[in-house]
Formats: sequence, structure tokens, C-alpha cells
Amino acid sequence: MAAGFFISKTLGLVSVILCLGALATIIALSVVYAQEKNRNATSALSSANPAPTAAPATTAAPATTAAPANPWNKMRLPQSLLPESYVVTLQPFLTKDASGLYIFKGNSAVTFSCQEATDLILIHSKKLNYTQQNGFLISLEGVDGSSPPPIAKTWLEAPTQYLVVQLSGQLEKGKKYKLLSDFVGELADDLAGFYRSEYVDEGVTRYGKRVDCLGGCDALCLQPFALVHVSLLPGDLHSWGLTVHVHQYLCMLRIWMLVTHRHSDPCRVHTCMTSLTLGSQTDQLRIFSVQGGGWVRALPWGAILLTWPVPLPDQVGLPDFNAGAMENWGLVTYRENSLLYDPLFSSIGNKERVVTVIAHELAHQWFGNLVTLRWWNDLWLNEGFASYVEYLGADSAEPSWNIKDLIVQSEMYRVMKIDALASSHPLSFQENEINTPAQISEVFDAIAYSKGASVLRMLSNFLTEEIFKRGLQSYLHTFSYGNTVYDDLWVHLQKAVDDAKLQLPTTIKGIMERWTLQMGFPVVTVNTRNGSITQKHFLLDPESVVNRSSVFNYVWIVPVTWMTGQGGALTTYWLEETSATEPSFTIPAGAANWLLLNINVTGYFRVNYDPENWDKLLTQLDTSHQAIPVINRAQIIDDTFNLARAKYIDIGLALNTTRYLSKELEYLPWSAALDNLAYFRLMFDRSEVYGPMQSGWLALGWATPSGVCWDRYNEINAISTACSYGIRECWTLATALFNQWKTNSSNNPIIPNLRSSIYCSAIKTGSEEDWDFAWQMFQKATVVAEADKLRAALACSQETWILRRYLQYSLDPTKIRKQDAVSTINSIASNVVGQSLAWDFIRGNWKTLFEQYGGGSFSFSNLILAVTQRFSSEFELKQLEQFKVDNADVGFGSGTRALEQALEKTKANIKWVAENKKAVLTWFERESG
Ligand SMILES: *[C@@H]1O[C@H](CO)[C@@H](O)[C@H](O)[C@H]1NC(C)=O
Ligand SMILES: *[C@@H]1O[C@H](CO)[C@@H](O)[C@H](O)[C@H]1NC(C)=O
Ligand SMILES: *[C@@H]1O[C@H](CO)[C@@H](O)[C@H](O)[C@H]1NC(C)=O
Ligand SMILES: *[C@@H]1O[C@H](CO)[C@@H](O)[C@H](O)[C@H]1NC(C)=O
Ligand SMILES: *[C@@H]1O[C@H](CO)[C@@H](O)[C@H](O)[C@H]1NC(C)=O
Ligand SMILES: *[C@@H]1O[C@H](CO)[C@@H](O)[C@H](O)[C@H]1NC(C)=O
Ligand SMILES: [Zn+2]
Repeated sequence: MAAGFFISKTLGLVSVILCLGALATIIALSVVYAQEKNRNATSALSSANPAPTAAPATTAAPATTAAPANPWNKMRLPQSLLPESYVVTLQPFLTKDASGLYIFKGNSAVTFSCQEATDLILIHSKKLNYTQQNGFLISLEGVDGSSPPPIAKTWLEAPTQYLVVQLSGQLEKGKKYKLLSDFVGELADDLAGFYRSEYVDEGVTRYGKRVDCLGGCDALCLQPFALVHVSLLPGDLHSWGLTVHVHQYLCMLRIWMLVTHRHSDPCRVHTCMTSLTLGSQTDQLRIFSVQGGGWVRALPWGAILLTWPVPLPDQVGLPDFNAGAMENWGLVTYRENSLLYDPLFSSIGNKERVVTVIAHELAHQWFGNLVTLRWWNDLWLNEGFASYVEYLGADSAEPSWNIKDLIVQSEMYRVMKIDALASSHPLSFQENEINTPAQISEVFDAIAYSKGASVLRMLSNFLTEEIFKRGLQSYLHTFSYGNTVYDDLWVHLQKAVDDAKLQLPTTIKGIMERWTLQMGFPVVTVNTRNGSITQKHFLLDPESVVNRSSVFNYVWIVPVTWMTGQGGALTTYWLEETSATEPSFTIPAGAANWLLLNINVTGYFRVNYDPENWDKLLTQLDTSHQAIPVINRAQIIDDTFNLARAKYIDIGLALNTTRYLSKELEYLPWSAALDNLAYFRLMFDRSEVYGPMQSGWLALGWATPSGVCWDRYNEINAISTACSYGIRECWTLATALFNQWKTNSSNNPIIPNLRSSIYCSAIKTGSEEDWDFAWQMFQKATVVAEADKLRAALACSQETWILRRYLQYSLDPTKIRKQDAVSTINSIASNVVGQSLAWDFIRGNWKTLFEQYGGGSFSFSNLILAVTQRFSSEFELKQLEQFKVDNADVGFGSGTRALEQALEKTKANIKWVAENKKAVLTWFERESG
């Protein structure tokens, strides 16, 4: 359970986060990776400055070419010393010191044993000022009668962030020692490491909220400041009575302190507890936050849980957090918008996010915490697994939502757009490819999360869920509290396959390496006249050059499920070569005789057919679309649009798949269409094609569905589509509701599900006064779900001066919280008027952005991708290339690969616009009749 937990308030309540962890190898680390998923805006994580803490590690740094000579030049620690316990004391001060800084003081005592004689101690250390002891930065003591050699020299090695201790003799193998340090650090608001988070507590009366106080916190919050003793002996880490050898690849957040300052109101911490029975274990899941709000039940996938219970962590919402959430042992931390649900303010989308994020973090208790990967190169297995299980967990919590099907849209199709670029990368890296903090940050990308989830889903489907679970259980059981490499999982799944006598074309490892060691995915093409089936590496730009070689020559072992107009087939066809012939795929003439591959899109690939079969499928959609499973209706749309972009088929065929939509009542096909048409919009909303596109849209009847039982998502989509395509009734409705709210700001008449669209529309069509009202409401919002909606809507203005001012606000932490800066700029960039302003702003402020917001530099890849998403002219390409040159000295951190992708995408967009503008214009002109 939460170790220290104190709270109170000053003019600004301050919360402080401390991250401490422990692991093998040598003492300490300062890099705190707190990235978690936060799809929409950022994904972030911080690197840190806290007290000397744990090191990830195991193997020695691999010898790369031009290996640096000294251990302190290498990013990975040697294995000569093993930390056993840490005792850290931290004392944060919440008033500025004489030089105007918020600081903390602290000391730490680390006991470690010597595994191999050495005269060198390396400690990760960042942004700490050490108090000298006899002229050195640290001091050393013997333990159990050992006596350390004198210290010869200590220094800070900035590039690798080490504190280096050179001894004048050897530490002896088998002996224990204690390293003591005293330090001062800045308690900055940089969301990294041990940081300060302030928010204005407007108090109990104003919002009429009940304030709960955690037992025992009263006394603590009256103290002028909290002095916290943290003991990180393994046995203390949990109150569950487990003795855990803590083995974390992520540095753990052990303590959450809302540190108090002076006396003031009672603690404002909302708690919420619920008893959960998990197998034979009953435990309490406790949720804490400074903001009120309920939460939604989301349990991870039952079966794994039952076989291997882990202690349930507490859940904490933080007012400032760089990531979406972080799965620390015992104490999971969240951005408030990922934990708190308030029926008065939250939309279905917010609720869905809360459920899936909690399920994701709980899944990490097994995958990540209980069993930890050896090094960051295999990160995809952790994140992919949690991203897959978040759908299963959320589905078991809320079965009526059909959330499981959404994985196709939200993960697979999303990531396929990136994975179809020549600048993509494989799921697995070599261990020696990932060394520096920036390289580690970069690994947390859509490939790791979404492709990882998609590939594991494919695996589970061709194995059957039962065999998949059995293999996982055996893996988790074997490696509990240990480290693994991803091959270990294949071994255990193989055992389960062998036990079940399941027939596969080759071993699991043999199949899966095709998907994990080579980037991209295939397009499978069937000719239904003669049954020929082929595969080819799918590239969005067919002319792009793939420089990364693959030992498998970009041939996959593809599980192909299929059905025909006459019914389904139970067997899976395995495509193992570049081409083959399958007689069952020879389909006789006749409209109802179609062939459909990849049922429910369980396989990670795209599908193409001969033109006759496409015609038959489109006819089926027009006549009775229900004959095709709903996920495959979305597939037909998404595949054709992407095949058209890659020039496999005509763009007209892709557009033709959307014709039947006026009859479609399901979310997924609509969402696939809107997503793909959004690309058209980005390419054309600054051109003459946009007018006909808008009229075509109306003529197709997409924007004003009538009389049908739209499910909740469609309602949201329809409204936002209608308003964004300028349907007058929609604007009028939005403005009327918004005005009603303005006249009585304490009574918002707009239902939460529609707020994002209505606010955006009202601001878009409204005046400066409307913007100011929304800005005020944003500043007053106490519930993050509401604040987020307003913050996004404020970017909808059509006034360049307002948007410029808003861009300035985004870098002012008193106006926009630092954690939200990047997503605010992204929202402005997604507005057609704001796009070039945001680009100018980023170019003009890159150094500031990079240096001040670089702590959570994960979001940089999103920033680059968002601001360049419309780029489709030679001029913009030149600017982007210039940007790369101009800022080469500052660097792009975790956005490095995103920049390459942006360049590649821009080139592809230029070609696409040139080749398709006319056809698109013609199609929409014909539709609008
Ligand atoms: C640490 O030392 C540097 C250099 O002397 C100084 O600029 C900085 O303010 C110090 N930080 C703290 C928190 O005392
Ligand atoms: C592949 O190499 C060529 C030639 O060196 C280069 O122009 C191209 O940008 C590279 N492509 C990628 C995706 O890196
Ligand atoms: C099937 O037809 C396609 C298209 O005409 C042709 O390219 C392919 O070679 C044929 N395959 C076989 C096995 O006849
Ligand atoms: C496809 O998914 C739907 C629901 O999403 C499910 O009802 C159906 O059984 C699935 N079909 C197959 C063949 O798994
Ligand atoms: C799209 O549909 C229209 C109208 O049915 C048809 O004339 C056109 O040929 C179709 N385009 C393609 C590429 O199939
Ligand atoms: C974030 O999500 C909101 C609604 O969920 C959407 O309106 C907004 O455009 C998204 N922002 C970005 C940058 O994707
Ligand atoms: Zn995760």
C-alpha cells in the first residue's frame, strides 16, 4: 500500500513525487521512465533527478564499434556491484530559497555487495549537488567488518550521467559496503524525477464537494513540511507480507507525498475503495486523488490473475503527470483524466479511456512487474501485452460495450499507417541498438504498443485463447520475480501447443519471428478466378526504398482465415511463401459468390482481390451489408483506401466502399471511413477540392442521419462530422446551446458526450467573447475531463491572432499545465487555420520546447507528426528539411525517428495529391450531382 501519504494545502497545494527503485548490478540510476500510453496527446515519460536509485541492467554493455575505453563512458553499468538496500531521506522545501529556487535536501545510504573485485563505483546521478565529505562527493563505509579502500577521486561524468568514484584499492569480492551521500536538488516543476506539482485548491465551499481525509493525515498536514524517511529494504515495500526481490525495469515510484505547508484546511484527498475477490485472495483496490470522481471497474484478464495473484496496487491520480499512467509496483500513478470518471462531466470516450487505462496498468502487474524483460529492446512485449489485455480486461468489466472489436480500429489500423513506411522498424531491436535515454524513450512508440498488441492478438487467435493462456501462465509461473527475453515466451507457448497437439506449419518461434524481427506487414492478394494467393511487403509509397534488410526477405508466415458468400470455413490457410495456389479460393461467377479473407481482422495484414471479387463485395454491401461481419465491413473500407494510396487499386473503388454507409448503423465501419476521409480532408482542406467534397458529403446523407438508432459513438461522430463540414443546423444548435450556457455559467445544458463537438463548433463560429468565456470556464474547471474538452475546443478558433495568443499560452505554465503543453499545440495544429501558425511557432521555439519540455520528451514524436500531418507541397518539404538542418545542434531527442517519418510522409503526400486530386474531385462532383 501507499507508503507515505500526506497532504494539505497552501495557496497552491504542492505534491511531490519521488521515485525510488532497486535492481541488480550497481548502485543507482537517475533515469526514471514513466512513460505510459496516452494515445491522443502525448506519451511521455520523464527522466529524472532523484536520489541515487536503482539501475536497470544485467548484461554488460555489448561491445559496439568504437567502444569507449572507460566504463564511465558506457551507458550500461558494469556488473561488479549489487545493491541490496537503500535508505533515503528527502526533505522538500516548499518556499523558495535565497536564490529563488524550490529545493530538496536529502541523503542516502546504499548497502551493496561486491560481486567482482573492482576499484570503481558508478552511480547514476542527474541534477544533484553533492555536499562534499572530506573533499569527495560521497563517503564509503565497511559493513560486517569489511573495510573499504580510500577514495582517490570522485567526479560527475555529464554525458553518461554518472557520479564516478575511483578508489585507490580494490573492493573485495563477497564483501559488503555502504555508500553515503548528502545532496541538494532543485524541486522543479519539470515533471521529471522528484518534482513539484502545484494547483490551486479552490476549496470546499465553492464547489460544494465533500472532502475526505485519509485516516491519520490530519496531524501530518499541520506540519510546516514533511520530513520523510524512506526505507527501501525489500521487506518494507509492501504491506502484503510478501518478500519481494524487487526487480524492476522501470524505476519504481514508491512514494506519493502531497507535502504540506503551514496549517490550513484538512487534507483534500478523495479516496475510494472497493473489495475485489481475485481467486482465493480478497484485496482492496484503493484509489486516491486530489480531485473527486468515481472510477470504473476494470479487471485484467481473469485467468492469468487466478493462477498467479499479485498484490493489487493502489491507484493514484496526480494533477501533473507526464505520462498517461505508470504501473509502479504497489502504487499505480495516473494522469487525472486516465483515472477519474465523473458522470456529470465525462463522456463515453472519457469513461472508455479510464477503463482501458486501468486495465492496462493492472495487466502490467503481471507483464512488466512480476516478470520483467531483460532490457529495453524487448519492450514491445510488455507494452504490446498490456495494450492487448486492456481490451480484454475492459471487456470483462463492461461486456456491453463491445470494446474488444475496437482494437482493430484503435490499435491495428492506427499503427499500420506507420508500419507501412520504409522508415518503420521491427518490434524487436538488438540489445546493443538501445543505449541512451533518448533511444530508450524512442522505443515507446506506436509500434511497441499497437503493433505489439495486434501481433499478440493474432497469435492468441491462431493458437486459440485457451492455449495462449496456458502458455502465458506457464511463462509467468516460471519467471516470477525474474527477467526474461522474448524468446522465453515462445518456449512456453510452444509447450502449450505441443501438449494440445495443435498442428502449425512450424514452431511458434518460427512463425512469430517473421512478425517481430522484420518491420512492416504483407498485403495478401487473392485472384478468385484461379485461386492464386500471393504476399508482398505493403508500402504506402510503393516507390520508397527499404534500406533495412531482413533475413526473411520480407516474407511472412500468414494465418489466413476466410469465408465465402456461402458461409465460413473453419480451417486457417497458412501462406508461407511469396505465392501459392489454393483451390478453395477459386470462386464461381455470380454476385453472391464472393470471397472474404481475414475474418474479424485477426491477422496483421491487408487484403486485396481481383476486381470481380471487389465488385461482388461492394454489391453485397449495397444490398445486404449484414452478410459481412461488422469488423470486415470496416476492413473493406480501410484496406481499399490504403491499397489505393499504395496504388494497388483505383481511388474510385475506395470511395465507392463508402456509398453504403447511409445504411450502416455500426460504429466501426463509420469510424474507418471517417478516419480515411480525414486524410482527404488534411490533403485538400486548403485547396479547391474542399468545396465539392463538402457538398458530396451532404449529398451522400452522411452528416444528417435520421430516424435510426444510432449508437452512442455514432451520435458523437455524426454531430462532430456535421458541424465540422459546416452543416448550418449543427452550427445553429451548437451556438444556441453555448449561448444558453453563457447566460448561466453554473448550469451547463450540454450533455457530456456532445461537449467536445459543440464547444469546438461554437468557438469556431463564435466571437472573441465566446473564446474568452470558454477560456474562463477552462480556468475554473475543477474536473479534468471538462478542462480537457475546453482546452481542445479553444484551438478551434478561426482567428489567427487568437490562435497565436493561444500558442503563447501553451508555453506559459501558469496558463496551461506543462503536462498539457504539447497536446495543446497539437490541437492548434490540427485546425486548418492553426496548422501553419503552429508550425511557425514550433520552428521559432524549438530550442525552448526541447530544453524545457524535453524532460517528458516522449511527446516530441507526436508533436512533429501532428504539426506536419497536412504537409503535401514541395515548399513544406523544403521547410521541413531546413528545420532538420537548422536544429541539428539542438537535436530532436525522442522525435528523431518521427522527423524521418514526417519527411517520408510528406514526400508520399506530395505524390498522392498530384496523382489523385483529379479523381477525388471528379468522384465528389459526381456524388454531389
Ligand atoms: C547546484 O549547483 C549549481 C552550480 O553551482 C547551481 O547553479 C545550482 O543552483 C545548484 N542547485 C541547487 C538546487 O542548489
Ligand atoms: C534509403 O537509402 C536511400 C539512399 O541512401 C535514401 O535516399 C533513403 O532516404 C533511405 N530511406 C530510408 C527510409 O531511410
Ligand atoms: C492466376 O491469374 C493471375 C491473373 O491473371 C495470374 O497472374 C496468375 O499467374 C494465375 N495463377 C495461376 C496459378 O494460374
Ligand atoms: C467476429 O466477431 C464477432 C463480434 O465482434 C463475433 O460475434 C464473431 O463470433 C467473430 N467471428 C469469428 C469467426 O470469430
Ligand atoms: C464507382 O462507382 C461508380 C458508380 O457505380 C462506377 O461508375 C465506377 O466505375 C466505380 N469506380 C470503381 C473504380 O470501381
Ligand atoms: C484528442 O482527442 C480529442 C477527443 O478525444 C480530439 O478532439 C482531439 O482532436 C484529439 N487531439 C489530437 C491531437 O489528436
Ligand atoms: Zn504500458
